[in-house]
Amino acid sequence: MKVVAVYSTKGGVGKTTAAVNLAWEASQSFRVLLWDLDTQGASSYLLEVKAKIRGGIDSLVSGKMVAGDAIRPTPHPNLDILPADDSYREIELVFDAAKNSTRRIEKVLDSLGERYDVVILDCPPGASLVAENAVQAADVVVVPLVPSPLSLRSLDQVAAIVAEAAQPTPVIGFLSMVDRRKAAHRVAAESLHRENTTVSDILVPSTVIVERMGAARAPVATYAPNSEAAQAYEKLWKRIAGIAKVKHPKRKR
Ligand SMILES: Nc1ncnc2c1ncn2[C@@H]1O[C@H](COP(=O)(O)OP(=O)(O)O)[C@@H](O)[C@H]1O
Ligand SMILES: [Mg+2]
Repeated sequence: MKVVAVYSTKGGVGKTTAAVNLAWEASQSFRVLLWDLDTQGASSYLLEVKAKIRGGIDSLVSGKMVAGDAIRPTPHPNLDILPADDSYREIELVFDAAKNSTRRIEKVLDSLGERYDVVILDCPPGASLVAENAVQAADVVVVPLVPSPLSLRSLDQVAAIVAEAAQPTPVIGFLSMVDRRKAAHRVAAESLHRENTTVSDILVPSTVIVERMGAARAPVATYAPNSEAAQAYEKLWKRIAGIAKVKHPKRKR
């Protein structure tokens, strides 16, 4: 099982959008779990899952509830979700109170290795204990970047958190909302990946097709498979799968 954390210290940069679309792309070849770690529950909403975790995040972290019981199917084959509910507002406190407080996500995922090939973590913004947990569990950290002078700063902030993890973990940034009518965006799209080797040359355009996800409550590729955005997420998933060395499980005979 490989774990992909979609994370930035900044909010509103396209983390949830990327997490949902990457999870769908991954589910075309693998058994995928998307873990919605944000109280807002946006990725749960986009995949049409509304769930209450009995006993809340506390029972999941303490092991009173097994992760398998909180997981819900989505309308998409091979794509399940561990949804967020209101109890996630307490997640920082719950992790902080637990022992090995930066390894709680890793611990919950331990029991799911046989069930999934890929886990995508949709992280909340900020430099939090949740972020440390996600990075600690991750085989690769994916950072959506909005083309702005501050975007490289958020990438540096993520890199600093990743550097604290027990193991070296690759980071890949990508431009997530490129508006080619804006000169600054065109410049960023041309130059960022040349100046910074952790930034991918794959970019997602800013488009109403992506915005429509909120109304469609579905990944872009399900209603606009030929759009530039859907194709960008497909390419990005393949790049990520290569970095994380995602493999099909050996089938038992
Ligand atoms: N490529 C895009 N084009 C247009 N709108 C986008 C694009 N990516 C994300 N958005 C919109 O931007 C907002 C923030 O995106 P979201 O993925 O929720 O960010 P985050 O999870 O980082 O807070 C959402 O309303 C989303 O629909
Ligand atoms: Mg989000």
